Amino acid sequence: ISTEGTPAFCSRTVTVGHRGAPTIAPENTVASLETAIDRGAEWVETDVQITKDGQPVIMHDATVDRMTDGTGRIDQLTAAEIAKLTVKGGGHVPTLEQVLASPKVRSARMLLEIKGSQTPESVAHALRLVAEAGMTERTMVQSFDEDVVRYAAASPYKFKVALLRSKLDADPVATARAFSLSAYAVNFKGLAAQPDTVNRLRAAGVETFAWTVDRESEWQAATSWGIDGMITNRPDEFLRWKESR
Ligand code: G3P
Ligand code: CA
Repeated sequence: ISTEGTPAFCSRTVTVGHRGAPTIAPENTVASLETAIDRGAEWVETDVQITKDGQPVIMHDATVDRMTDGTGRIDQLTAAEIAKLTVKGGGHVPTLEQVLASPKVRSARMLLEIKGSQTPESVAHALRLVAEAGMTERTMVQSFDEDVVRYAAASPYKFKVALLRSKLDADPVATARAFSLSAYAVNFKGLAAQPDTVNRLRAAGVETFAWTVDRESEWQAATSWGIDGMITNRPDEFLRWKESR
């Protein structure tokens, strides 16, 4: 990993708590999101899945098995059934509405990942909830699913959007333009293949967020490339590292 260059951009790299602060509180719970914000993260990243009855809930996986005392696919469980589950390590699976009701989350910024294979109606419902909570300006919608990104960008709420990529596109600037991206959200290793992409995107008015960056050597590299958003499972430790620079 090349760390050539100065860490001059370091101070402007925002901290994005990936699923909250999952090394401190169970991922994607309200407690985890609030802990990340308490520890100084300007942004929190969360994952939206849709229940059998069309309600957006916050969970990374398509099933509740890994994170809760229950089993089954989220799209085969109702929101009421999911609300009864206990998260391993404590807490409950929040609905998107419960997250949006947190004053702490509302004071921060949300990187709201809508997981793939959702219907346009369920995406529209989730976006409407964010807009009704007055969080449009503070939310960037991201997805690996290009249709979701297109849909969010074209929504009447004018959300900022990010496209999630595991690898760099041949021409990331062209991709950013094609999707009207505010940010290009790329896997750290993918970005490492061509870190000057950050500068090219910046020149085109597009930010670069890197995921999921948890090691000091990677923080050093990514800040030296001038990335705008550090998506990390260790937001508190990243902030401490950044302050010690
Ligand atoms: O924010 C980017 C990152 O969350 C994408 O991967 O699998 O953790 O949702 P995943
Ligand atoms: Ca995610």
